[in-house]
Amino acid sequence: MMLIVENLSQSYSENKPVLDNISFAIAPGTFTAILGRSGAGKTTLLRSLLRLHQPQKGRVWFNNCDLLTCSSRELQKQRRSIATIAQQFNLIPRRTALENCLGGRLNEIALWRCFLSRFPLQLQREGLTALTRVNLLEMAFQRADRLSGGQQQRVAIARALTQNATLILADEPVASLDPQTAHQVLSLLRSLCDQDDLTVICNLHQVEFARQYSDRILGLKQGKLILDRPTSELKSSDFQQIYQ
Ligand SMILES: Nc1ncnc2c1ncn2[C@@H]1O[C@H](COP(=O)(O)OP(=O)(O)O)[C@@H](O)[C@H]1O
Ligand SMILES: [Mg+2]
Repeated sequence: MMLIVENLSQSYSENKPVLDNISFAIAPGTFTAILGRSGAGKTTLLRSLLRLHQPQKGRVWFNNCDLLTCSSRELQKQRRSIATIAQQFNLIPRRTALENCLGGRLNEIALWRCFLSRFPLQLQREGLTALTRVNLLEMAFQRADRLSGGQQQRVAIARALTQNATLILADEPVASLDPQTAHQVLSLLRSLCDQDDLTVICNLHQVEFARQYSDRILGLKQGKLILDRPTSELKSSDFQQIYQ
């Protein structure tokens, strides 16, 4: 397994759990969709996997390391293999697409190089390869804020590739995109699973997208995991349960 979550609980205040004893396992090279109404705890779940919240209970096993109890040095190291993609693209607006890609590797680069945008040639090559993979090579030297929403999201995916991530956590990556562009971005994420053996966990709002692109669907309701099923075995009553 790529990721094993055991009895994860999380709360922002004393008495009200936002995640309630959640357990699941993710196989490598798969696309998992997390569905749930607004406020169900989807964002909190992805952030908790990265230990961006404390305190919390449970275990998050990744590369034989429990991310919730390992040292902060080990946590930093493991986080390098995990890329995040957000609804609002999260690029540095005034930097080029290529520079944004290289941002995933800043830990390897001397600070002065970052300030002057003098990135090592080998790294630039890797960034350009990643941009080619998402079909955006011609935009490599465009500022991020000059790109369309769909292009920005593809740069975010190229940044994940440049980072050499093995796991991508995407939090409603297509919520700000029109349907056609949303399909492009989700197809691309899907192809990373199929062709590059990356693992994707993706919060989604729309059932149809989940049905079309995922291998497995997790359903969250009020912080509880109420559904964990292969997409091919899904029943329509499953969706009613999540959304009623
Ligand atoms: N930083 C925070 N502090 C306090 N409560 C929060 C915080 N973030 C989210 N919540 C609450 O936790 C619950 C789950 O939120 P969230 O994980 O954002 O759900 P989703 O992503 O499914 O919409 C909601 O009730 C929300 O109000
Ligand atoms: Mg959310």
